Amino acid sequence: MDLGLSNKRVVISGATRGIGRAIAETFLDEGATVAFCARKGDEVAEAEAALKKRGVAHGAVCDVRNGDSYRDWLATAVEKLGGADIFIPNVSAGGGMGSEENWRNSFEIDMLGAVRGAEAMAPHLEKTNGAIVFISTTAATETFVGPQAYNAVKAAINNYAKNLATQLGPKGVRVNCVSPGPVYFEGGSWAMIEQRMKPFFDTTMAQIPMGRMPAPADVARAVAFLSSPAAAIITGVNLVVDGGMLKRVDY
Ligand SMILES: NC(=O)c1ccc[n+]([C@@H]2O[C@H](COP(=O)([O-])OP(=O)(O)OC[C@H]3O[C@@H](n4cnc5c(N)ncnc54)[C@H](OP(=O)(O)O)[C@@H]3O)[C@@H](O)[C@H]2O)c1
Repeated sequence: MDLGLSNKRVVISGATRGIGRAIAETFLDEGATVAFCARKGDEVAEAEAALKKRGVAHGAVCDVRNGDSYRDWLATAVEKLGGADIFIPNVSAGGGMGSEENWRNSFEIDMLGAVRGAEAMAPHLEKTNGAIVFISTTAATETFVGPQAYNAVKAAINNYAKNLATQLGPKGVRVNCVSPGPVYFEGGSWAMIEQRMKPFFDTTMAQIPMGRMPAPADVARAVAFLSSPAAAIITGVNLVVDGGMLKRVDY
């Protein structure tokens, strides 16, 4: 199946490693062009050089938490790409419990990052029948770890995405979520948990019927499909990529 991603212009927040990096690689391999950001300049330079071997990629240093520089980067990214067809808000503050700071971080980085990004990108996407895919998590829809900001704020993003899909549908813009379960990659949070919290890692693995955690590329392929013209009539959904870990039934 041809996804129809050739020459699509894709803006991704946070793509120097992990899931965001795999998303950038997948889009480039499909013939799309990509603009991405992250905070660490040396890692942006490394990722940009590596991604350029696959196609047209523009990296930039930007902290999504800072609304002004985030909007500036989005405007520059669209300018460099000559427009935008797809927006992937991928950055997260990550998990953590026991401090009000965790709630502030999740709200400012995950939630406001989603809202500011969607509001800045919608006018561009309305010109191109574009698509937004928010990177959420299975931790938004079932209890996991504990009462942490990460789970609650990602659930809010799922809700926001569904409402946004209803609002932007008449303007030709599709809005979906991809919710990964625990994703394993070197340097990622689950590689760290495997080293430092082996019993928790093993308990989590035991809940995955497919017997392995998704790799970033597994998530990236779901993102590529949902944001592609091949999914032209799919909007307002939350696609779970978790090897069967969630036990809820979707009616
Ligand atoms: N890993 C998992 O198991 C898992 C499971 C479910 C859902 N998810 C979701 O998938 C997404 C990506 O997760 P990941 O594990 O691949 O993350 P990661 O390894 O922490 O990578 C995040 C990327 O975003 C950048 N970044 C982080 N904070 C940023 C900020 N404030 N401004 C700009 N860039 C920032 C990072 O680079 P810098 O540090 O240089 O900024 C990096 O490029 C997140 O939304 C996460 O919640 C992950």
